[in-house]
Amino acid sequence: MKALVLSGGAGTRLRPITHTSAKQLVPVANKAVLFYGLESIAAAGITEVGVVVGDTAAEIEESVGDGSKFGLDVTYIPQERPLGLAHAVIIAREWLGDDDFVMYLGDNFIVGGIAVLVDAFRRDRPDAQILLTRVADPRAFGVAELDAQGQVIGLEEKPERPKSDLALVGVYLFTPAIHEAVRAIRPSWRGELEITHAIQHLIDQRADVRCSVIEGYWKDTGNVVDMLEVNRTVLETLEQRIDGEVDEASETVGRVVIEEGARIVNSRVVGPVVIGAGTVIEDSYVGPFTSVAENCRIVDSELEFSIVLRDSSILGVGRIENSLIGRHVEVTPAPSVPSAHRLVLGDHSKVQIHT
Ligand code: G1P
Repeated sequence: MKALVLSGGAGTRLRPITHTSAKQLVPVANKAVLFYGLESIAAAGITEVGVVVGDTAAEIEESVGDGSKFGLDVTYIPQERPLGLAHAVIIAREWLGDDDFVMYLGDNFIVGGIAVLVDAFRRDRPDAQILLTRVADPRAFGVAELDAQGQVIGLEEKPERPKSDLALVGVYLFTPAIHEAVRAIRPSWRGELEITHAIQHLIDQRADVRCSVIEGYWKDTGNVVDMLEVNRTVLETLEQRIDGEVDEASETVGRVVIEEGARIVNSRVVGPVVIGAGTVIEDSYVGPFTSVAENCRIVDSELEFSIVLRDSSILGVGRIENSLIGRHVEVTPAPSVPSAHRLVLGDHSKVQIHT
């Protein structure tokens, strides 16, 4: 069995975090979403992985490399334009050969991985197996309609009036039966060859298409509350590891990861917390469910239930909670006169000021 991982598409979600990089590289607990996917593919006993790349190919290739750090053998498959998920299957046809495969969308996050699902597919070998999850707004997804027995009877891509709240998760298990289906369909209104339509084609042909409903699913929809929540879920599973320096005046409590080259000086860190390599925490408090990425400086401040991306500094500003702070950001006090906030905010930023 092989894995086809889709990491194309531009980071068109215009908010500072994904604006400048591939959406698959958005970090959760200091690790790219894509890496959790690759690790779960490896954990499911799959080693041959085709990674479909688009405009952000250079960034993806630089971070994934040849796949050996995940125990995988990665082949890159360029997709010239984002013409759809079924189009990705068409261009990967030769590489896939006649193997079964899992198709994994690199910006999807599945808590607990896919090993159990892949094992069930290997055992039963239906023509295709899809995953569904209940979502608040199904209109942003492919949506499934099930009969009373729980069999899929219909799939629609981003319907205006969804027939259920069961969204298609971006992990699909296929036998080579999918190759005929991806060739049988026409582009959708958005000009893409939809995998949703290819699976509907299989259903129409009376193929055996099974579904399972999962929990613990996340995708970056630009919603900061959801992002903090998935970060919390992953931090819950953290194992304590202190490779960096903690000085005598500092205290760490609970499950805390301090990466090599990070320094904790005269500070208190209460886990679960992860502090990235090269980051300095000085005269500060870092509280539960916080991820601070690499090369940041947190000085004379308090930080809790927050995500700070790399190369940012938070200096002398009191307490910050429930916040998502991008890369190369500086948060500092304003001069005492005039008494005013001074802001340089990127597109789609949101600031809540305590007055
Ligand atoms: C794609 C699929 C959709 C699925 C979603 C999951 O949507 O077309 O059916 O629910 O992935 O991530 P897209 O990311 O292209 O909007």
